[in-house]
Amino acid sequence: IEGEALDQFGRRFTDLRISVTDRCNFRCGYCMPREVFTADYPYLPRSSILSFEEITRVAAAAAAMGVRKFRLTGGEPLLRKDIESLIRMLSSLRTTENQKPDITLTTNGVLLTRKARELRAAGLDRVTVSLDAMSDANFRRMSDSDFSVQDVLDGIHHALDAGFRRVKVNMVVRKGWNEDEVVDMVSYFRQLPVALRFIEYMDVGASNGWNMQEVVSSNTLLEKIREAGNTLLALPAESDSDTAIRWQHQNAPGEIGFISSISQPFCNSCSRLRLSTDGKIYTCLFASEGYDLRPLLQSGADKQALQEALTGIWQQRDDRYSAVRTEAGAGTRRERIEMSYIGG
Ligand code: GTP
Ligand code: 5AD
Ligand code: SF4
Ligand code: SF4
Repeated sequence: IEGEALDQFGRRFTDLRISVTDRCNFRCGYCMPREVFTADYPYLPRSSILSFEEITRVAAAAAAMGVRKFRLTGGEPLLRKDIESLIRMLSSLRTTENQKPDITLTTNGVLLTRKARELRAAGLDRVTVSLDAMSDANFRRMSDSDFSVQDVLDGIHHALDAGFRRVKVNMVVRKGWNEDEVVDMVSYFRQLPVALRFIEYMDVGASNGWNMQEVVSSNTLLEKIREAGNTLLALPAESDSDTAIRWQHQNAPGEIGFISSISQPFCNSCSRLRLSTDGKIYTCLFASEGYDLRPLLQSGADKQALQEALTGIWQQRDDRYSAVRTEAGAGTRRERIEMSYIGG
């Protein structure tokens, strides 16, 4: 691509993650623990939240730089009013190869039952649903919500029925909390055309009180899943910026994957920028500061100007937090922003 920007480690920018709200109807302890995210928590005021028009201007500049994938996150992105309109606006953008960009969304799933069809019709290509347990007791403990597992499963089935393909389910595994759910999760999802991915619990944000003792490594899980009688065939990487190592069930449609940001960091090929709900660009999930694009947006900057700003940010980028954490030993603490604000 002409003028394609490389960062300090020669990485390309292909993936923009857009957080559309810092609110959520779950209170997962690893993300928005209820002690911190109380009823009077200071969420972003309406006035500082980017409009769909502003988001689309940033996305258009990113697309002109070689970005092919937009992921809508939060918080819970389906809580953002009229999210379908934003999806339609993003759908009308074109990549440098003159393709419709891949538009995907990460959700806790409970609003999918109501919204899957509309989202699909608006141009959403894929959904990823978070689900941390198959038993209601552990699900409620993990999500600290009053929803049930069935609410999420209904959402997943509605997404499949609405025509979504390559649906993914993300499970964050936390020792002592839900590691006993792993085999049940595999048994349920192996029969569906779904990729079930296990995520190593990360030290993201500042409020979850992360502790290395609660991480279950992907290798441990893989062994456990095989011991339970699953025959798995290794799948090749889809692209070099994949986050997951993937396996196919031998005699079933399901796929499983491991996102091992603790035991096998993937910073070397990290191709992502994150746009926060209030218009800041973060170059890493573990960044402590972002670059505020709002002054530019509010001064009416055109695509060219936004593209120049993003190119400058990308070219300076030298983040590799997960790799450094592993080299330095876990627990290298510094100030960090919350995942619910920056977007998972
Ligand atoms: P697709 O394969 O296109 O669906 O995207 P993805 O693999 O990035 O999937 P998703 O957005 O569902 O990310 C899954 C999880 O991987 C996130 O919730 C994070 O826990 C973790 N993750 C994603 N991107 C990063 C990253 O840049 N750094 C780290 N350390 N973890 C990440
Ligand atoms: N470690 C790993 N994954 C996390 N997520 C949120 N917080 C963490 C964490 N501390 C994941 C959720 C969901 C996505 C939004 O981010 O499970 O899949
Ligand atoms: Fe909400 Fe997802 Fe965070 Fe859970 S992990 S609190 S569902 S944003
Ligand atoms: Fe990318 Fe930062 Fe995650 Fe490494 S830790 S993969 S640099 S977002």
